[in-house]
Amino acid sequence: MANTYDFGLVGLGVMGRNFILNVADQGFTAFGNDVNEDAVATLIEEGGDPSKVNADVEVSNFVAALSKPRKIMLLVPAGKVVDAVIESLLPHLEEGDIIIDGGNSFFTDTDRREAYLKEKHINFFGAGVSGGAKGARKGPSIMPGGSREAYQYVKPIFEAVAAKYDGEPCVAYLGPKSAGNYVKMVHNGIEYGLMQLTSEIYDLLKKAGGLTNQEQHECFAKWNSGRLQSFLVEITSEILAQKDDLSDGDLVDMILDKAKQKGTGKWTSQNAMDLGIPVPTIDIAVSMREISALKSERIKADEIYDRPNPESVVKDTLANKAEQALYFAFIMAYAQGMHQLADASKEYGYALNLGEIAKIWRAGCINRAALLTDIPNAFKAPPDLANLLLSPSFSEKIKETVAATRELVAYGATNGIPLPGLSNALTYFDAYTSSRLPLNLIQAQRDYFGSHTYERIDREGIFHTAWEED
Ligand code: 6PG
Repeated sequence: MANTYDFGLVGLGVMGRNFILNVADQGFTAFGNDVNEDAVATLIEEGGDPSKVNADVEVSNFVAALSKPRKIMLLVPAGKVVDAVIESLLPHLEEGDIIIDGGNSFFTDTDRREAYLKEKHINFFGAGVSGGAKGARKGPSIMPGGSREAYQYVKPIFEAVAAKYDGEPCVAYLGPKSAGNYVKMVHNGIEYGLMQLTSEIYDLLKKAGGLTNQEQHECFAKWNSGRLQSFLVEITSEILAQKDDLSDGDLVDMILDKAKQKGTGKWTSQNAMDLGIPVPTIDIAVSMREISALKSERIKADEIYDRPNPESVVKDTLANKAEQALYFAFIMAYAQGMHQLADASKEYGYALNLGEIAKIWRAGCINRAALLTDIPNAFKAPPDLANLLLSPSFSEKIKETVAATRELVAYGATNGIPLPGLSNALTYFDAYTSSRLPLNLIQAQRDYFGSHTYERIDREGIFHTAWEED
């Protein structure tokens, strides 16, 4: 069995096991490795035929089983574990072998690992994999970055296992170094935004329209057959219909309102700040997870302050406006994420193809949505489009839905229902589309107290005014 298996995978948790079984379903032979003997045994049993799917706890046996150049994917927790696994593999590898990190690693860690392994003539890919456990088994969206030359060895396997949209695989070589991890990070930032927005619409339908979970289930299901069609709208509909096993009610009502996070959304926001690109819908989605975690403080504060009783709105009217507002805000979240990718592409030399990225998000990943199908065209003409808001096809969609968004944001503010994602999306739109903002006053203040200087609208140059003396 030496040097015969096409593909190796380290980390046989649910994601890893599902991914390797998917590889085997596509006709490739695959070999797994995990420090946990039970995980190894489970894979061998589920694989059925050890000549097609096999596994071993011993790293040396694992590496020896793989054909050359070895293609070894890691699906292990991001951070130190990735470095530890790389070190354990290194003594057994040969020049030209390929390691692919399929986890949500921070992009600068990927750059460091790529440079370190390059010195040893080992190719390193950071490949974001989206779609959760089901995606890994049935077809994820894969976002690989690394050496273009080495990608030829990985390409047939990735194209076979990836989700398909109209027959096209949801995977593409994205760029050098950490391009793949970076794109996956921003994918997750957008994911945070879409999830926050969906939760606000759920709150609004409940508090303003009195829609029951069952009615909301039907509402989201209907939206999912229209322009809002997306994985997150689809699962929201299913979640709202789920009965609870442990009580008489619906499961969603019994779930504690504290959202956890593993960091990718926060990294997206942090890096957007470093780049100087505004992504307020993603920022607020991270902040809302942080506010949600302050549950005991929120309970105390709720006792101190009164809030208005929401004025009731006719269900159908509300649902119609909510559909428009969610569509509007989804566009803002994608526009911000794509803007960040465009800038990062220049800053880090990724040479990203934004249309291609939208294409590989059309199926398999958490962000898959009907509105992504319009993004490739938007970036085709002109290819250097700075922001989706400037594209004619998107400006039409935005113009149709902005009025309803304004009404709901105003309603939320008056009636004490927090809609930070929606209102941020609207503010982003209003600010980005204002040819004159009041930041001239900020420049004047900066110059007043710190002599920081300012520019003028009527002539070139840098100016300073002796404000106090004047
Ligand atoms: C995906 C997801 C996935 C992510 C989870 C959890 O694309 O399949 O983005 O990679 O790990 O969504 O993220 P948080 O724990 O940060 O919410």
